[in-house]
Amino acid sequence: MSLKKNMQDLERRLDLLTAKEALALIADLFPGKVVFSTSLGQEDQVITQLIASQNLPIQIFSLDTGRLFPETLELLARTESKYQTRIKVYYPERESVENLVAEQGINGFYESVEHRKSCCFVRKVEPLKRALAGNEVWVTGLRAEQSANRSDMKRIEWDEANQILKFNPLLDWTFEQMISYIEEHKIPYNPLHDKGFISIGCAPCTRAILPGENPRAGRWWWEDSKKECGLHSR
Ligand code: ADX
Ligand code: SF4
Repeated sequence: MSLKKNMQDLERRLDLLTAKEALALIADLFPGKVVFSTSLGQEDQVITQLIASQNLPIQIFSLDTGRLFPETLELLARTESKYQTRIKVYYPERESVENLVAEQGINGFYESVEHRKSCCFVRKVEPLKRALAGNEVWVTGLRAEQSANRSDMKRIEWDEANQILKFNPLLDWTFEQMISYIEEHKIPYNPLHDKGFISIGCAPCTRAILPGENPRAGRWWWEDSKKECGLHSR
């Protein structure tokens, strides 16, 4: 059977399931080959809870760019301890970071979109490739509401850049739905969310937003770009 046909069948099966059930099905269909990337954002914290509460054999990993907020790393430790699980942390290649900083300076990403993308490549995109290698499904916390670029994504889709099936279990969840799930299940979250931060990435590239602003307005706020770092380029 072709991949396209298989994908359509899988999509139809997943459509009938909740995020919790869908994660269990994916873990079952691809034993030992499913990984979940967490940035410790609110979406990701929900998925971690869905995985941990069912004890699913899905490896959770995070990309530590070296420029994260201390609150994010503290949340990583708190999450590991709450769910009694280990989150595998990937780091950028030492030599690549040293060369990058030698070339463009410690905060060179403010100077041009090109510099910024090089930094994101070294600190996120390359480590992501290592984290996904050898696996069949990549679970992410993407939601359609987050941006125009994400509004036409599918719950399950083929990721050409990384040659892997990408599964977005919370794609259709609204912001309100996610917040009430976090409250109901007492899920640990980043204290920066209470200070006006919505989408949280690296510290120098994230700021709080004002009520009514686009949820991703605080990311790379000085840029007029599509505000994607290359993890989810399509
Ligand atoms: S980004 O492309 O702008 O950085 P965003 O912060 O919206 O992405 O997060 C979307 C999804 O990308 C998250 O749910 C998570 O699966 C993945 N992701 C983003 N940043 C990281 C990170 N540092 N480590 C692991 N996964 C990440
Ligand atoms: Fe570098 Fe900023 Fe991208 Fe982080 S978000 S990898 S600091 S450019």
